[in-house]
Amino acid sequence: EKGGYASFMLKEIAEQPKAVADTLLGRVDGSGSLTLDEVRIPPELLRELDKVVIVACGTAFHAGLIAKYAIEHWTRIPCEVELASEFRYRDPILDQRTLVVAISQSGETMDTLMALRHAREQGSRVLAICNTNGSTIPRESDAVLYTYAGPEVAVASTKAFLTQLVACYLVALYLGQARGTKYGDEIRDVIRDLSRITGSVERVLETMEPVRELARSLAHHDTVLFLGRHVGYPVALEGALKLKELAYMHAEGFAAGELKHGPIALIEEDLPVVVVVPSPRGRSVLHDKIVSNIQEIRARGARTIVIAEEGDEAVVPYADHLIRVPATPTLLQPLVATVPLQVFACELATARGNEVDQPRNLAKSVTVE
Ligand code: M6R
Repeated sequence: EKGGYASFMLKEIAEQPKAVADTLLGRVDGSGSLTLDEVRIPPELLRELDKVVIVACGTAFHAGLIAKYAIEHWTRIPCEVELASEFRYRDPILDQRTLVVAISQSGETMDTLMALRHAREQGSRVLAICNTNGSTIPRESDAVLYTYAGPEVAVASTKAFLTQLVACYLVALYLGQARGTKYGDEIRDVIRDLSRITGSVERVLETMEPVRELARSLAHHDTVLFLGRHVGYPVALEGALKLKELAYMHAEGFAAGELKHGPIALIEEDLPVVVVVPSPRGRSVLHDKIVSNIQEIRARGARTIVIAEEGDEAVVPYADHLIRVPATPTLLQPLVATVPLQVFACELATARGNEVDQPRNLAKSVTVE
């Protein structure tokens, strides 16, 4: 059933272009139009929303963090993202004008389920983003946007994550369209870009051999740090989570701007630091800032592993290892930048002799609080 792959995880990483394409199918087209009939929340209600709250756990929470950037940018509605396990215990402010988005691959995560029940009790509408047809979370939600990753067997989430991102972008674009925003043209362009993104994910997968080699060479290390900015920050968190759960290594993700507020003290000779670099087009200020972060950590002896867009020459002098990803609009970059981090963690874990499909102490779906 592994279709010739050594693990389900490798198979599921390879299935990502199809998972993304299937999740986009019938929802976006090359002309820039978007159809989301399944979101059965009346347009009047969408127009009246004054807040979006995203609840999720683990990898799905990282998808939510990325969604916040997209939702706030395209819709101008304030968006909070919260770990489902923390949410209801702090008496969150919720009412009919709050849209709660619950993201879950399995649809059975108890923390997320309890969070959405709490939200509905307070009168909020809940939209589920889910990969499992008929599971509990979509059944208890007001509406559901299914992701079409197909069954995900490996404990570490890979293809489901990419499809969660796609679904989040679709929700953000849909809300932007329903409410009308000054970003109308940009929204149409992004829908077009999304309809072509599958090819970019395929291209990343074709260039992963050097990443595998690099991962194997780092198997004896104890710590790996991950840095990112803007949507690259949640990507860094996701890279670190994958490494923790699979390689059982100390891995931490930081917002690159926070380096100087503490984490730079961790930098030492030969410490592997993965840096996710934003596009030099788009938000170029951030790009320049992250290039100086790379310089700073390299000057302190770190081994820099840089994930940067094709054609970004500014990073070349400071990258000990350079991983290229196709040029992508800033907000969509996580769809390509996460893939090398999945491959990296999978390969490193294998080199350390770990069972990647069934990491110790973990279960595929966490049905207890
Ligand atoms: O099924 P869910 O998406 O609700 O699961 C949430 C987390 O338990 C899950 O993403 C977990 O963090 C994965 N093991 C990450 O790879």
